Amino acid sequence: MDKYIINGGRRLEGQVRVQTAKNSVLPILAASVLTDEKVTVLNVPDITDVRNMVKILGCLGCRAVYRGDDVIVESSCANNCEIPRALAHELRSSVFLLGSVISRFRRAKIAYPGGCDIGLRPVDLHLTGLKRLGVKITESNGYIVCECERLTGNEIMLDCPSVGATENIMLAAVRAEGTTVIENAAREPEIEDLQNFLNSMGAKVRGAGSGTVVIEGVKRLGGSVYQPIADRIEAGTFLIAAAMCGGEVELCGANAENLSSLLHKLRENGCKIRIKNDKIYLRSERRPVSVKSIETQPYPGFPTDLQAQMTALCCVSSGNCIITENLFETRFKYVPELRRMGADITVVDRSAFVRGVEKLKGAVTVAHDLRGGAALVIAALAAEGDSEVLDISHIDRGYARFEYKLLSLGAGIKRVGV
Ligand code: EPZ
Repeated sequence: MDKYIINGGRRLEGQVRVQTAKNSVLPILAASVLTDEKVTVLNVPDITDVRNMVKILGCLGCRAVYRGDDVIVESSCANNCEIPRALAHELRSSVFLLGSVISRFRRAKIAYPGGCDIGLRPVDLHLTGLKRLGVKITESNGYIVCECERLTGNEIMLDCPSVGATENIMLAAVRAEGTTVIENAAREPEIEDLQNFLNSMGAKVRGAGSGTVVIEGVKRLGGSVYQPIADRIEAGTFLIAAAMCGGEVELCGANAENLSSLLHKLRENGCKIRIKNDKIYLRSERRPVSVKSIETQPYPGFPTDLQAQMTALCCVSSGNCIITENLFETRFKYVPELRRMGADITVVDRSAFVRGVEKLKGAVTVAHDLRGGAALVIAALAAEGDSEVLDISHIDRGYARFEYKLLSLGAGIKRVGV
């Protein structure tokens, strides 16, 4: 288990290129099973979640390989519809494969998916949606088994705008007979990205981003060469780090439109922000002023995936803030670690009450999940003195070359194998 050793208190200055979005690449790789032709996904971040998805595609009999920065998938020889338990537990996004594999094989078997320890992560909305398309589903000793004669388009109303459920239903519906309408669909930018990718393969999907997605089934899909969107959560993580440490950072290859809820909050914190084409420039010259409250919401509300990082920023801002996590049940596991650094936070139910302190102090902390781990790193970068962040394999799931990018901004950070 590697760890980071961090010398805190340094300003961050310089330019960073934003990686391709993890949460776009994963459903897009799952979608590559829908065609026998070659799919090339460009500039894919080298992160554990993608490596596991590539392994899962290999288990299905696909030929999936990194070639330079790209991932090439050829599914003409796909011959297996079962996703092994070990890999399904490694990766929440394995559940997206249900829709693709059923569409291709009319059968799919997958162990209950794993993922971050941030909540119950049910899949009931995925399964209800697939049943509406004609899939028979049985669940036995930890496996979900799906079978169907054919997939038939239908109307589906999601109880909550689940990202994964929206994507899974899209993947099952693109080659179904007839039209599928998903109401109360998730509006995240990654949904629109999946729509654009599917349409580049010859699908007929429209409405992504609007809350109602319409999919007209087609008989077959072709290959594609596709560049997914930038990772708005990685981008937001670097902006918050700069706001916490002070300095001037410019992100390249970013899309400010997908980050407007965060940018509003950072301006309230007193950061100077300039946007020009695919560049976001942030300058932070004084101690951030705390925002009064943060409520995580489905897109376009404040993203749950930036909740931990924003809480870390509130810990060193002047004033108090209440952060409420409305999407996941246990997404405050990083709070005891921040308290070890001198943060003044109290968690009651789904809210964290933060009283800002002048400075955090270096400490040894442990990452428990991907975004909580990232929050501990940026807190350590801003803290006085030296810190260690243990079990950074969680961070490796979603941030490619994290320490190299931070080093290029002047951070004092190094990875140590333990
Ligand atoms: C996706 O997870 C992202 N992961 C998560 O990012 C992100 O936090 C989440 O969407 C919300 O934006 C990927 O895209 C790979 P949901 P997903 O289904 O699809 C409830 C990261 O850090 N729900 O939108 O699992 C669920 O309990 C990861 O990159 C049901 O009740 O999220 C939660 O409260 C973490 N039944 C809410 O919906 C279901 O069948 C949102 O979950 C499905 C979900």
